[in-house]
Amino acid sequence: MPDPAPDALFSAAGAASVQRCPRCGDTTPELSDAAECSSCGGLLDIVHATPPAHGAALLALFGVRAGLKPGSEPSGVWRYRELVMPSAVDPVCHPEGNTPLLARGSVQTFARSASLILKHEGHNPTGSFKDRGMTVAVTQARRIGARAVACASTGNTSASLAAYASHAGIPALVFVPRGQIALGKLAQSLAYGARTLIVDDDFDGCLRLAREASRELGVYLVNSINPWRIEGQKTIVFELLQQLGYDAPDWIALPAGNLGNTSAFGKALREAFALGMITRVPRLLAVQAAGAAPFAAAFAAHFATHQPVHAETIATAIKIGDPASWDRAVRAITETNGVVASVTDDEILDAKAVIDASGVGCEPASAASVAGVRQLRDKGVIGEHERVAAILTGHLLKDPGIIQRYHQETEPRPARANRPIEIGATLADVERVLKANGE
Ligand code: F0G
Repeated sequence: MPDPAPDALFSAAGAASVQRCPRCGDTTPELSDAAECSSCGGLLDIVHATPPAHGAALLALFGVRAGLKPGSEPSGVWRYRELVMPSAVDPVCHPEGNTPLLARGSVQTFARSASLILKHEGHNPTGSFKDRGMTVAVTQARRIGARAVACASTGNTSASLAAYASHAGIPALVFVPRGQIALGKLAQSLAYGARTLIVDDDFDGCLRLAREASRELGVYLVNSINPWRIEGQKTIVFELLQQLGYDAPDWIALPAGNLGNTSAFGKALREAFALGMITRVPRLLAVQAAGAAPFAAAFAAHFATHQPVHAETIATAIKIGDPASWDRAVRAITETNGVVASVTDDEILDAKAVIDASGVGCEPASAASVAGVRQLRDKGVIGEHERVAAILTGHLLKDPGIIQRYHQETEPRPARANRPIEIGATLADVERVLKANGE
C-alpha cells in the first residue's frame, strides 16, 4: 500500500474529530447523533485531527502508556517468577493475569461496602483464575517430561488445563462429574482438545479417581493439590497488592471450594509480609456455598472438626464436599485472622444479578465473595470504613444455563429478572416498549 500522506487521513492539528461522508464529502460534528450522512445517506467515517506527534515520537508515547520498559514481562504470573518458579525457562505462557480492579457503585451499595473493589479473574485467557496456576503446573509437566497431564474438575480447572496442555503439546485427561458442570466450561474442554471423561460421580469422586490414575498410570496430576498450582495462584494476591501500590486492603474475600485458592492466598500473604512487600496482612474471607460448606462449619467449631458433606449448590464450581487442601487452608485462615462464611444459593444469585447488571458480570461461584462481604457487613464483622477487595473468579459466560433460568424461567419471577420481550416486526411495537420503559 502506498504511504498515505497524513494530511489526507487527518484534519488540521488541534481540530475536533468529525464524521465525514466519503461519498459526498459532507461533514457532521463529532457529537452529532446522525446514523448516516444527512445529505446523501452514505455511511460515515470518523476523521481525527493530526496527532501531536508522529513516527518515533508517537511510538514512544504509546509505549509509555503501555508501561513498556526494557525487561517488562507481559504475563501477570511470570512477572513474579522469583516467588513462583525461579528456575523456569521458556514457560508455557498464554500470557495470563493482568486482571483489572473494578469499582461499581451498585455493587458497593449492595454489599454495603463503599470501598469495595472487584478483582476480575474472569479476564484470564480461559475465563477463570485457574490459568495462573495452570501456566506453572503445565510448565512443570513439560520440565519433568510428563507423558500426559490430568485433573478432576468442576469445569474451570479442566478448561484451563485443556488450553495449556494443547499449547504445550502434552495430552490432557480431564475427569468431570456427569451433569454437574456448566455448559461453557465443558465446551472449552472439548474445543481445546482434552480427553474429556464424564464420570458418573460427583467432583469428590472424580478427584479420587484422578488421584488413583495419577498414582497407578503415571499421568501428572495438576489439581490444586499440586504445589506448583498454588505458586501460580499466589500471583492474584501479588498483582492485587501491586495494583494498590502495596497499600494492602483490610480484607480479601474469595469463594472457596477445594480450598486451593484460599491456601495460595495465605502463602502469598505470608511471603509478601516476610519480604517487606506489605507492612500489614489483610484478613482473608473465604466464602462457601451453604450446601457445600464443610470448611465454614469447621471454622465455626474453631477447626476442631473436619467433616466432609454431600455437596449441593447451584454454584457448580464450588460444589465440593471434601476439600483437598484443608490443612493448608486452615493455616491461611488462622494466620490472617481470617473468617470462613457460608451463603445460600439465593444470596449467591442475588449478588450475581447485581454484579451482572453493573456490566461486570461473573459466574455464580464468584458472586459468593460479594454475598459474603454483604453478610459480614450486616453482622458488623467487616467495619463500615474497612477496605475490601473481592475476587471474581470466573467469567459470566461460563454458565449461560443459570442466567437463562434466572432471567427467563424462574417462577415466581426473581426481583432482578430481566425478561426478554417478544415483539412483532413493527415500529409500533418498539415504541410501546420504549414508552413502557419511560425512555
Ligand atoms: N471460583 C471458581 C469459578 C472456581 O472454578 C473454583 C474452583 C473456585 C472458585 C474455588 O476455588 O477450589 O481453590 O477453593 N474450581 C475447581 C475446578 C474446583 O475444578 O475448576 P478452590
